[in-house]
Amino acid sequence: MKNKIDLDYSLASELIDNIKDDPMGDWFALPETFSATELKRIKEVAKRVQNDSDYLVCIGIGGSYLGARAVYEALYLGDSAKCRLLFAGNNLSSPELKRILKTIDGHDFSVNVISKSGTTLEPAVAFRVLKQALIEKYGEEEAKKRIIATTDPECGALHDEAKENGYETFDVPLGIGGRYSVLTPVGLFPLAVAGCNIDKLLEGARHCKETQISHLEDSMLVTYAFTRFYLYDECGCDVEVLASFEPCLMYFNEWWKQLFGESEGKDKQGIFPASVIYSTDLHSLGQYMQDGRRNIFETFLKFSPEKSPLTVPSFKGAADGLDYLEGKPITEISDKALTATIKAHDAGGISTMIIEVLDNESERGVSELSLGFLIFFFETACAISAMLHGVDPFNQPGVEKYKKEMFKLLGKE
Ligand code: PA5
Repeated sequence: MKNKIDLDYSLASELIDNIKDDPMGDWFALPETFSATELKRIKEVAKRVQNDSDYLVCIGIGGSYLGARAVYEALYLGDSAKCRLLFAGNNLSSPELKRILKTIDGHDFSVNVISKSGTTLEPAVAFRVLKQALIEKYGEEEAKKRIIATTDPECGALHDEAKENGYETFDVPLGIGGRYSVLTPVGLFPLAVAGCNIDKLLEGARHCKETQISHLEDSMLVTYAFTRFYLYDECGCDVEVLASFEPCLMYFNEWWKQLFGESEGKDKQGIFPASVIYSTDLHSLGQYMQDGRRNIFETFLKFSPEKSPLTVPSFKGAADGLDYLEGKPITEISDKALTATIKAHDAGGISTMIIEVLDNESERGVSELSLGFLIFFFETACAISAMLHGVDPFNQPGVEKYKKEMFKLLGKE
């Protein structure tokens, strides 16, 4: 496949320069330039929250929440966190909010409200409900100490409320939009509260930048961005399916979908981002992937294998026909399933790519380092890819349309 694609490295270099020069491209410099003072403050406030709260309710939607949730779920942080995260304000569901109120009932909690604009309806509604719960439990003054607002540093409804009430605040940097903000306080603060090693997350992103941007000829990132555009433009593949064999990556897939969907889907163009978790989805979407319309290409994510995996136990006289697998690590079986899936889909006429991220130091392969690497990898590939489509990677004019209609129906003046 690579031979047929025009991997135009000078164009890639030009597009990377465009990112650097774009007023909304500040996320590109972050892995190296993140302020040490701000990082220290994030950790200090996170420690304080860990000490006085069992739960941190993170209120936000889209780019203001998906990155943190992706890493939280991928690292199983909820299993070990001293202070667990709950995610609210990413829908308009009353039962979901009630569930959160029930979970925090009888526990100490704090609230991290995250909204760059400060006017997004879903988080604003949830914030009212959670603020009321805080005031009922702790009283007005203590409630204010338990609210951390992550918002625009200069203006906006949330910025103004935070200032007036003396909430602790973190900035969504002016030159960074929601879906590129996971490595800012938007993602780093809640993740630090949950016990994530945020230094390693940034280190992973730095490593990606060092290895993928300094030598474009060897860059998998550039190959990925150009290949997906080639498959769209030349082969009529307008759906990309991101596939992995780890269920913990379900929210990483959601983050990836938002990143590409909002960045690329403009002017009646763009690749539709979809995702699967195998082998689960081999038993649902597998049939379509093998035999359905051939407008799809598939990108597989692969990590270093888990160091001490479970093995298949032996059972004397078992009738399940699995004796040939006795003693085999489940990781090895999963790896074979991945190779087999790629072979089968390839034979079925689907173009496939594998992105393999190695972190041999971590027990599970899915680690802060590998996730930090992938976050930067996809953010940059997405921006390049959107520019190849000729659209602005950093705006989202379409999202405003539903808001206008909804506000009309709700009678907003
Ligand atoms: O990526 C984006 O810019 C969007 O998904 C926003 O993050 C989302 O709409 C939430 O916006 P805000 O942070 O202003 O509440």
